Amino acid sequence: MLRTHNCGELRITDAGKTVSLCGWVQYTRMAGGVAFVVLRDRYGLTQLTFNMAVNEALFKQASELGREFVVRATGTVREREAKNPNMPTGDIEIIVSELSVLNSAKTPPFTIEDDTDGGDELRMKYRYLDLRRNPVRESLFLRHRVAQATRAYLNNQQFIEVETPVLIKSTPEGARDFVVPSRMNPGQFYALPQSPQTFKQLLMVAGFDRYYQIVKCFRDEDLRADRQPEFTQIDCEMSFVERADILAMFEGLVRHLFHEVKGIDIGELPHMSYADAMKYYGSDKPDTRFGMRFVELNEVVKGKGFPVFDNAELVVGICASGAASFTRKQIDELTEFVKRPQVGASGLVYARVNDDGSIKSSVDKFYNEDELKKWAAAFDAQPGDLLLLLAGQTDKTRKALNELRLEMGTRLGLRDKNTFSCLWVIDFPLLEYNEDEGRWFAMHHPFTAPWPEDLAKLDTDPGAVRANAYDMVINGVEVGGGSIRIFDRDLQARMFGVLGFTPEEAQAQFGFLMNAFEFGAPPHGGIAFGFDRLCSLFGGADSIRDFIAFPKNNAGRDVMIDSPSVIDAKQLKELNIQTTA
Ligand code: AMO
Repeated sequence: MLRTHNCGELRITDAGKTVSLCGWVQYTRMAGGVAFVVLRDRYGLTQLTFNMAVNEALFKQASELGREFVVRATGTVREREAKNPNMPTGDIEIIVSELSVLNSAKTPPFTIEDDTDGGDELRMKYRYLDLRRNPVRESLFLRHRVAQATRAYLNNQQFIEVETPVLIKSTPEGARDFVVPSRMNPGQFYALPQSPQTFKQLLMVAGFDRYYQIVKCFRDEDLRADRQPEFTQIDCEMSFVERADILAMFEGLVRHLFHEVKGIDIGELPHMSYADAMKYYGSDKPDTRFGMRFVELNEVVKGKGFPVFDNAELVVGICASGAASFTRKQIDELTEFVKRPQVGASGLVYARVNDDGSIKSSVDKFYNEDELKKWAAAFDAQPGDLLLLLAGQTDKTRKALNELRLEMGTRLGLRDKNTFSCLWVIDFPLLEYNEDEGRWFAMHHPFTAPWPEDLAKLDTDPGAVRANAYDMVINGVEVGGGSIRIFDRDLQARMFGVLGFTPEEAQAQFGFLMNAFEFGAPPHGGIAFGFDRLCSLFGGADSIRDFIAFPKNNAGRDVMIDSPSVIDAKQLKELNIQTTA
């Protein structure tokens, strides 16, 4: 080893030792005839000291070191005169007797410090330099700890890790596939897996009983802060289980992770039906760190001559505690917010409950004080509260009020990143109708089992069939989702029929799975967690990017290696691909 110690471990008790350290020059500070060089590695920082009066040549060498030079220094550990309580090694310094430059470095394009001057694109282009910065490095260390804790829990529960293939087959359900041309099969393509779903089910047919994999998945979809085209799942499947068994097992996993990684006990997770999540939060992933549950007001507000409410399918609102003090300007901002096309409301009605109990609304023309008191009663509002109401078509209005609720939660400081609120959302609808395509789609995926008592409705009223599916939601983020699966060939075939497949199409696409169901498939179910999302939640970040070593930007590009890129004509020819270029 070129070093005896790392840059984070020397303490006052090491004084007098001769040591060798290797690392990167964080910065050099000259103070009269003394040069201080702060050396950095992944473990920390240590100060190297060079005194001109003691060794002029070495002092000169030190003063010429640039930022990010890679050096090796040998010297004696000495107690510092001016200690630095902010640095774990701040009690000591190394009086250097030998210095070698292992490699020089160009000036980095941005400062390698906690708060850097580098913009996003620049940091991504030089990601290896960005990864030298503490916050990014710590995010990846956190990811490592979450992976270790996950494996420890699942191994302990008799799960075995199995790798499934990455070159698989394109399927029409779900997001768009990334495809890979096959040279040996001209005109044919593999697809990269959106998830190992069918393989893990086949492992259950094979009798593996408890499977997991920390696995890359690929989806060609529009990107957002919490979505990457390639991302990682903690993918799991179990045999001979019912929903309650899966929920208990994976609530256990998440409890273990919180305990190990954050030192937090998350307690028992509440269950909320999809129907309630939509009714009270307007979202299937409610942020339950704060209240402000929706209150429906049709009964209270209709029939008083206010056409917006009278003509609406749903009038629904939230009560923001203590927000009656919002200024006119702030309320105008909220009105602008709900009218943005992404939110989609046509306007916002508000009422302030004043400190003396009187109520003032934006629709006083239609509602007198007595009527407004009924509003306040419906919300159980207190003096100082602000009521915010939206009206319109049910689904759209709930969706818009969800956005407004989250915005109010943010404005009122109710969405603290160090507070965690976890729950299960259950009983999703099995299917959702897509107007554009004119057919039903599986809300989770086509392998999800319907509730047995709803089976009769599969052909007559598909929209009313509930799925035996569940999502885990933490702080308004869907961190995981899964279901009990269909394991009967006929039911699986019927499901494909409802999704608009002809029997031939179903057989061509998913025959391998349906055939397997004829060879003794056990009842089974599972779940997959978004590993990057879990890590970013633990790390208190909105974006999953910094928890991925080499992420893509929002256009799906890796700007460091400049990918995707064109390939040369010879390669295209070999792959039997013609382009117009
Ligand atoms: P699902 O599609 O719900 O289920 O995915 C599981 C979890 O993966 C995360 N996730 C993503 N994370 C980052 N970037 C993305 N583009 C992305 N897409 C999804 C989410 C999500 O909850 N095979 C099923 C699971 C099962 O039924 O067992 C599946 O893939 O956190």
